[in-house]
Amino acid sequence: MATGKVCIDGEIVDTAEARVPVLDRGFLYGDSVFEVYRTYGGVPFAEKEHLERLSRSADCLMISMPVSIDALASEVRATLAAAGEGEWYVRVMITRGTGPLTYDPTTASSPLRVIIVAPITPYPRELYEHGASVVLLNASRPTDDARAAGAKASNYLANLLAVHEAKQKGAQEAIVLGRRGQLLEGASSNLFVVKDGVIRTPKPEPGILVGITRATVLEVCAREGLTVEETELHPPDLYDADEAFITSSIREVMPVVVADGRSIGDGTPGPLTKRLRRGYLGAVAAGTGAAV
Ligand SMILES: Cc1ncc(COP(=O)(O)O)c(C=O)c1O
Repeated sequence: MATGKVCIDGEIVDTAEARVPVLDRGFLYGDSVFEVYRTYGGVPFAEKEHLERLSRSADCLMISMPVSIDALASEVRATLAAAGEGEWYVRVMITRGTGPLTYDPTTASSPLRVIIVAPITPYPRELYEHGASVVLLNASRPTDDARAAGAKASNYLANLLAVHEAKQKGAQEAIVLGRRGQLLEGASSNLFVVKDGVIRTPKPEPGILVGITRATVLEVCAREGLTVEETELHPPDLYDADEAFITSSIREVMPVVVADGRSIGDGTPGPLTKRLRRGYLGAVAAGTGAAV
């Protein structure tokens, strides 16, 4: 069975053998940044965009990138080659590194880089065929704060508790509300709604990770001449939408048909959602050469 591989500071090992020091600040404090993407036909999709965002996230948290983006990409290639044939989930992390047991981030000087290549677990097909349900929640995350806004920082505790609450309520994803009650994003996805043929998504602001999948979907919209608005949205915009969907590198474009127990539109995946899912997969095929 394929188990994947891990690369730590350039050294590739079996996943079960991979170790990081207990004094690493990523382990102690979630003091690290990361990216998640996947392969299609064994080729990573949008890797450059992900690694550039990783570098921006590191800058935002004043973590210096230990190697260049090109060097990281070639380590990912080597890790994928060591993992062998298959379709892989790729997680790239940069931690601030090891230092004394103090919160002062300046005491750690050697960032650690970790690449995890793991077998991909696709979301259930029925979520694409029949749609997912979401619940709206308040959750206060470190990246809601202007200091860390826009960074993909690893402290996902609030996000995972939100997902837990969503699952307990029978939903698959939590949609996080901002301080003004506005819709921000999913715990690990961006949100889109469709009303009267117009595609709308929350505008970038603190609390929103501007997704690579979101950007690809916006490119597809532009190419297909669809009307898009990046704007502030509130719960009624979702409840009363004709269609809704969430996006992420692993989910791709996933229809949303229920929010807080209310049916969206006619309660089935809508035509624009299906069209944008096809458009997204077309971009994936063009970017990787894979038949998707
Ligand atoms: C909080 C959050 N928002 C949005 C996304 C979607 O980002 P991307 O499309 O780059 O995967 C993610 C992905 O995990 C996320 O964690």
